[in-house]
Amino acid sequence: MVEISTSILSVIKGEESKTFFGLEKAKTDYFHIDVMDGKFVEKNTYNKMLEYASYIKRISNLPLDVHLMVKNVDESIEDFLAFSPNIITFHYEACKNKEEVMKYIKKIKENNCKVGLSIKPETDIEEIYEFLPYIHMCLIMTVEPGKGGQTLLVNMVDKISKLKKYVDENNLEIDIEADGGINLKTADAVKDAGANILVSGTAILIAKDYKTIIDELKK
Ligand code: DX5
Ligand code: ZN
Repeated sequence: MVEISTSILSVIKGEESKTFFGLEKAKTDYFHIDVMDGKFVEKNTYNKMLEYASYIKRISNLPLDVHLMVKNVDESIEDFLAFSPNIITFHYEACKNKEEVMKYIKKIKENNCKVGLSIKPETDIEEIYEFLPYIHMCLIMTVEPGKGGQTLLVNMVDKISKLKKYVDENNLEIDIEADGGINLKTADAVKDAGANILVSGTAILIAKDYKTIIDELKK
């Protein structure tokens, strides 16, 4: 059974509390917090995601799945640790070198938080193999990071399969999260490839009934 992490990037202004409560009732497994700084990616959702994370923390016990699409990883880790998230994921491409990747992994763990490492579509999966023994989750971007509502890049399915094969062959205990363009048409392919956590934003938020779509995606 896969888990669903609903991206709250595209929540309609003014409908936040209704949406968050509805997602909780529909039993999303996580709230996926898409943090963008306007530097690593064009959009800036930083303050909005700080606000949402703080609000969700106050009204719900559901875990936060924080996805940092930022250049200043150090500062963002500090900012989002404040909400005791279940996991903080940062981008491999935001790090100057391997030492920096390990530095951020250590910093997040030292604060009793799980660690995720994310890669963009153009980054080869082999580049992060060496970090897999130290992280809890690998987030495979199935769209170019930066906005919701995009179409899943089908060649990313092979990347997920390749990662899953490597993880199994090396007996690694690691979650594989697929993020971007996931809906009822694309979910099966990423699940069959080995993703066990699916991020979905648009497909869930536009649905009449959150529970129906979440249950369908989970199947
Ligand atoms: C894109 C974000 C994704 C995105 C998912 O940069 O990381 O989480 O919001 O939204 P959909 O499901 O609409 O692609
Ligand atoms: Zn995301």
